[in-house]
Amino acid sequence: MIASLLLTAAALTPVTSIARPVEIKFSHVVAENTPKGLMAEKFKELVEERMPGKVKVSVYPNSQLFNDNKVLEAMLLGDVQMAAPSLSKFQSFTKKLQVFDLPFLFKDIDAVDRFQQSETGQELLGSLKKRGLVGLGYLHNGMKQLSSNEKIVTPDQIAGKKFRIMTSDVLQAQFEQVDAIPLKKPFSEVFTLLQTRAIDGQENTWSNTYSKKFYEVQPYITASNHGVLDYMVVTSAEFWMTLPDDLRTEIKRAMDDAIAYGNAISKKKADEDRQLIAESGVTEIIDLTDAQRQAWVAAMKPVWKKFERQVGKDVIQAAEASNE
Ligand code: LMR
Repeated sequence: MIASLLLTAAALTPVTSIARPVEIKFSHVVAENTPKGLMAEKFKELVEERMPGKVKVSVYPNSQLFNDNKVLEAMLLGDVQMAAPSLSKFQSFTKKLQVFDLPFLFKDIDAVDRFQQSETGQELLGSLKKRGLVGLGYLHNGMKQLSSNEKIVTPDQIAGKKFRIMTSDVLQAQFEQVDAIPLKKPFSEVFTLLQTRAIDGQENTWSNTYSKKFYEVQPYITASNHGVLDYMVVTSAEFWMTLPDDLRTEIKRAMDDAIAYGNAISKKKADEDRQLIAESGVTEIIDLTDAQRQAWVAAMKPVWKKFERQVGKDVIQAAEASNE
C-alpha cells in the first residue's frame, strides 16, 4: 500500500521537478552576416554543443526584439539576458566609455584592441557593475566611415548637413564641431531616413553600411576612419550571479571563444564589404590624402578637451598610448 502510494506520488512529481534549461535571449540590431551577427550564432552553437539540454540560446538579430536604446533597460527587467550594444550606447550608464567615441583617437583597430586588453580597458569593462550590468568582453566591428548624398572631402563641405548618429553626446559634439547637424536615431531607422532624404548622411562601419544597404541610397563614402564602432557584450548581474557556478564558467568560456572568433573575422569582413560596395558601382569611395585627413583631425580634435573631465585624462592618455 505504502509502496503504491509512493509510486503514485513519484509518477506525479516529474513534471515539476525536471530541471528546465537556462534560457538566454541574445538581442542585437545588425544583420546576421556581420561580426556581431556571426559571433552571436557562434556563441549559440558552442553553448548548445558543450552544454546540451542545460542551456538554450535564442538569437534575435535585426532589432527584432529590441533596438539598442531599449535593450539595456529590458535586460535589467529580465526580458533579455545578453546583448552587445555599441560602446556609444552606454552613456546613460557610464561616462567612461565615451572615450571610444573621441574622433581620431585610435589610429586603427589594432590600437583599439591593445587599449581594450590593457589594464585601463579591462577596468572599463567593469564600469557598468554599479548599474547592475556585467561586461563579458569587447567585440570589434571596425572603423567608421562617412556616407553622404554629396561628395565630402574637406570638413567645411559637411557644414549644414544632417547626419544620423548613435545616442552619444561625443558624437553629437563631433558633428557640431564641423557645423553639421547631428540627429540621434535608432539603427533600425537609418535606411529609411537616408532613402527619403530626411537626412544627408550617416557614419558607420563598412559591414553595417553594406549589410543594411545604406550604400544603395548614398552615392558617396568618405573613407575617413575617424572613429571606432565596437561593442561590449553585456548581461545583467542578477541573471549572471544566479547561474550555478559550473554553468557560469562554461558559458563565459563559450563567450570568450565566440568573441575571439568574431574579432578574428571582423577585419576581413570590413575589407570584403568595402570591396563589395566598391564593385557595386553605386557608390564612389573617396580615399583621403594624408593632408586631407589631417584637416579633419584638426577640425574635430577639440572635442577631446570638452569630454576630458567626464572621461578622465588618464583614460584618454592610456588610449592614446595604445597607438604606439
Ligand atoms: C549603429 O547604431 O549604427 C550601430 O551601433 C549598430 C551596431 O550595432 O553595429
